[in-house]
Amino acid sequence: MKVLIVGKGGREHALAWKSKKSPLVSEVFVAPGNAGMTEDATLVALSETDPIALADFAEKEGIDLTIIGPEASLVAGVADEFKRRGLLVWGPDKAAAQIEGSKDFSKKMMVKYGAPTAHSESFTDSEMAKAYVGEIGLPIVIKADGLAAGKGVVIPETMEEALATIDDMLEGNKFGEAGSCILIEEMLVGEEFSLMCFVHNGTVIPMVMAQDHKRAYDNDEGPNTGGMGAYAPTFGADSPEVSEAVAKIMQPIVDGLSSEGMPYTGFLYGGLFRTAEGFKVIEFNARFGDPEAQIILPLLESDLIEIIYNLLTEKPLPEIKWRPQYAIGVVLASEGYPDHPNTGHPLKKLNLNGEDELIFYAGVREENGVLLSDGGRILLNVAIADDFKSAYEKAYRNMKALEVPHTFYRSDIGHKQFNRQ
Ligand code: AMP
Ligand code: GLY
Repeated sequence: MKVLIVGKGGREHALAWKSKKSPLVSEVFVAPGNAGMTEDATLVALSETDPIALADFAEKEGIDLTIIGPEASLVAGVADEFKRRGLLVWGPDKAAAQIEGSKDFSKKMMVKYGAPTAHSESFTDSEMAKAYVGEIGLPIVIKADGLAAGKGVVIPETMEEALATIDDMLEGNKFGEAGSCILIEEMLVGEEFSLMCFVHNGTVIPMVMAQDHKRAYDNDEGPNTGGMGAYAPTFGADSPEVSEAVAKIMQPIVDGLSSEGMPYTGFLYGGLFRTAEGFKVIEFNARFGDPEAQIILPLLESDLIEIIYNLLTEKPLPEIKWRPQYAIGVVLASEGYPDHPNTGHPLKKLNLNGEDELIFYAGVREENGVLLSDGGRILLNVAIADDFKSAYEKAYRNMKALEVPHTFYRSDIGHKQFNRQ
């Protein structure tokens, strides 16, 4: 099979790396990909949000299966175009991708289909929103309805900041269309986890549960980012915790989308809080998490392509096996990320140890044979070991060796796992 991965970040590098391992696969293409993935895939210089160009390429090249990485491609209708042409594609169409693309739609689905979540009210009028906040008081979470690249969520520390945020989102144009509707949400207390599932035709197959670290600096301080590091498993794919989250949250939403005439196909990501009352969902993403993909896929012993292909073509599924190990990944980020990343610095090459130490590249470009930093999140360094502590120590040993000027990383990825053990 020829496989096409759509996207250009670390998640897509991990998808390409894992696809290439499949005995079913002869060639892996990534559109547009990045200069750090050329050992694992052939790069195709096409935009990830151009459905026509991508589908034309798939037809011309005889691509047998396309896997869509980022939400921007889903919302742009890449899956719709591929399906219209009868091309096999893994990823939801525009309608089902609203589960991520619109927080308002997503919240309504959670409420209608009984997935436990934070209480929330939606507003398009700033005066009404401000009056509501005056009534309920802090703490609250304010969210822009649409996609805002991880910047659409504010947890105000003062009433003043809350009122200014409402004005900013509903009156200002910093968020464009994404900010024409906002949600004011109850603040949940608990630990945060990410659960990814394979979903097709109402079937929901959970992966190992992971934990991301979204704030830029140690101790969960600093601005929100796309994710600074992650590890898995926090709970195994067949644990009671994962079963609870699937039964209460993932399956009801998948069934709900089907009954609304928007059947879901692809990776489905639940952003979960483990509260005193059990798991609650704060968001769904219509895709694999990044950096979660880079630590979960190396733990998947089974053939990713066989799972996806058999799901899509309704063939019996292979047994889904996980390596009985821990994976941890730490992001090397450009100084100034997420607001003003300082890029263009040459990166070091490490001699890594096969399957247990991996680097997935994100924001990089190549100049005269040298890889340079070219984005906020440069790469994710992954280490795998039989016990969590060894994985952690190996990952941080490699981080030290990778360090270059004008970059930073968090030094506490996975600390909560030490406390949980
Ligand atoms: P999001 O952009 O939706 O991923 O949200 C960013 C972060 O805000 C999440 O990862 C949570 O840490 C936090 N957050 C969002 N909603 C809530 C909530 N209702 N209660 C507490 N924290 C929240
Ligand atoms: N790691 C969080 C996300 O992919 O949204």
